[in-house]
Amino acid sequence: MRILFYDTKNYDKASFDKEQEHYPDIEIDYLKTDLVPRTASLAEGFDAVCAFVSSDIGKETLTILQKRNVRLILLRCAGFNNVDLDTAKALGIRVMRVPGYSPEAVAEHAMALALACNRRLYKAYNKVRENDFSLSGLMGFNFHDKTAGIIGTGKIGAAMCRICRGFGMKVIAYDVYENPALKELVEYVPLEKLLAQSDLISLHCPLMDSTYHMINIDTIRQMKDGVILVNTSRGALVKTEDLIEGIRLHKFAGVGLDVYEEETNNVFEDRSDEILEHSTTARLLSFPNVMITSHQGFFTQEALRAIAQTTLQNAMDAWQGKATENDV
Ligand code: NAI
Repeated sequence: MRILFYDTKNYDKASFDKEQEHYPDIEIDYLKTDLVPRTASLAEGFDAVCAFVSSDIGKETLTILQKRNVRLILLRCAGFNNVDLDTAKALGIRVMRVPGYSPEAVAEHAMALALACNRRLYKAYNKVRENDFSLSGLMGFNFHDKTAGIIGTGKIGAAMCRICRGFGMKVIAYDVYENPALKELVEYVPLEKLLAQSDLISLHCPLMDSTYHMINIDTIRQMKDGVILVNTSRGALVKTEDLIEGIRLHKFAGVGLDVYEEETNNVFEDRSDEILEHSTTARLLSFPNVMITSHQGFFTQEALRAIAQTTLQNAMDAWQGKATENDV
């Protein structure tokens, strides 16, 4: 089976090369370019393409792939909102994904952000490098005995609940469905109560119509003063303009973001002054209590290994005509 791998980063190639040893029937050709209509015809002669969240797998791309006899799209990610599934189905193209690879990777990053914000680690790092060993501006608070509010208790949220319990925190949670595995660890409460009682709020629900901008000035006003907010899920769960207003109101001890609304607009790839001037992300970065990372929550050795393993197993299952739960 021949797979054309789009948008290859060095770390993708390293992890897939390693896993491929277990799949002698699979041959992979790596491309740096992403899958978009202009590059879809490069898949001529391949059985499958491997794509990512950034790929444009709309009608045009799918039609070209189908004409080139590609019948399988292997998404090496959980999300599939970039795929026109109706067209894929109509054209007989199977789409498979990696639903969960390492919830702990993202949850551990969420806690890393929370701790870095609380103890001002980014500031401490810079101060000491400049030979300033004073403690001014570095005071934090103990997480022990404080309350963590976890919004969304699926795979990643559940891992975050366990981590917070490990820190000796009381954990309260809000979800539209309760996770039975967390029965002993977590108290489910209405969202208003979670907002009002939590010292640390961490977002772990997916982006949907019902969760779009769920953190806005109304919900921010309901939070405790001095709360730490962490978002490792999707940028648009938080209305950035309102977050900035909340920061100006001194609501937050710290804000840790691995995702932000402008992520897909390549704000920081095109660094023109005009774009940066209007960028809400750049405005966020101007506050001393905000820490932003570049969507790296998933980026661990274990998660990359799991992504490669599942993607190649998906390829074999499709090759052998097996139906699996990883079908989209
Ligand atoms: P999951 O599907 O296991 O859990 C999501 C949970 O959110 C479910 O329990 C669901 O009932 C809940 N939920 C749905 N609507 C809700 C609402 N209105 N209010 C509260 N909870 C609601 O998903 P998983 O694997 O835990 O991932 C969570 C999110 O993490 C993903 O949607 C994705 O956006 C993000 N993610 C971020 C990564 C990163 O690198 N930063 C990597 C992977 C995922």
